[in-house]
Amino acid sequence: MKQKIESLISNVNSFIAENADHAEQLRLKYLGKKGILNDLFVEFKNVPAEQRKEVGLLLNDLKNNVQDKVNTLKEKFEQGKSENKKESIDLSLPVDYKVLGTRHPISIVRNEIVSIFSKIGFVVSEGPEIENDWHNFSALNFPPEHPARDMQDTFFIEKNPDIALRTHTSSVQVRVMEGSKPPIRTISPGRVFRNEAISARAHCIFHQVEGLYIDKDVSFADLKQTLLYFAKEMFGEKTQIRLRPSYFPFTEPSAEMDVSCNICGGKGCNVCKYTGWLEILGCGMVDPNVLENCGIDSKEYTGFAFGMGVERITMLKYSVKDLRLYFENDLRFLNQFESAY
Ligand code: DAH
Repeated sequence: MKQKIESLISNVNSFIAENADHAEQLRLKYLGKKGILNDLFVEFKNVPAEQRKEVGLLLNDLKNNVQDKVNTLKEKFEQGKSENKKESIDLSLPVDYKVLGTRHPISIVRNEIVSIFSKIGFVVSEGPEIENDWHNFSALNFPPEHPARDMQDTFFIEKNPDIALRTHTSSVQVRVMEGSKPPIRTISPGRVFRNEAISARAHCIFHQVEGLYIDKDVSFADLKQTLLYFAKEMFGEKTQIRLRPSYFPFTEPSAEMDVSCNICGGKGCNVCKYTGWLEILGCGMVDPNVLENCGIDSKEYTGFAFGMGVERITMLKYSVKDLRLYFENDLRFLNQFESAY
């Protein structure tokens, strides 16, 4: 038995494998369930006591040699495999392009608005989308019977008349005034919610950017120049603006601003309904009541505010005719927008 094991050891040591399969065959032949080593261990039971120690050691040697041999061979073939792979890289092949997504048009325009106002010192502030009556209505001078407080227009949370999804980002101006001292120069982009039937021109979720400037001696002329600067940056150097008197509970006087139609250049087309003008935002001087509601002395400070719809500006800038497209996530629509913003 001793000789048999010794010759098996030398067989194992001189074994040559050409691939990983050969190495596996060697393992099975010796170490498998029906392998040589199992047979030898059975045979070992009959070895006379005086030879047991020596034969036992040899048997262990054989087992270890097989194991070592198999491991080294397998390692060798594994390494070879990855080396082969490395060699097979063809550097002349064109790269596998990853399709990059594009920003959503609403994000592009929101970022552009933010960037235009940050150039003249406005900082971004944000507020919660779920608001209480004070920040969304009362502090902004909405009388108790104002129709916007109606269930028809506002989404209330669990029928609690005090908590609702904000209907405009003007709520953020209240929070900013309550939390900081003038001078204040801020813009607040965000999502707003109104109980509206969805159509090409209206949606129950949309985006606004609110602007607020409070300091000593802020006048309507400052408002006008700020908005003219914005309109030219957004729609082009030739853009003109006009302000029409309007009404908002939180501003006095209030106005709506139109820009000269960027499609026909003011000559008249079906987008501007042949008026040459497009309405883009509401604005005005912050009502003294609002300043006082927010802890700002209205004798010392004045300010202006404005609010615009991001969907509307995006529609005008990119000639989008149906605002439902913004929410459908159709890649054929979204892929058309590429931007630095
Ligand atoms: N909050 C108004 C709206 O949702 C927009 C607006 C109008 C905001 C005039 C203002 C403003 O700050 O001065 O329709």
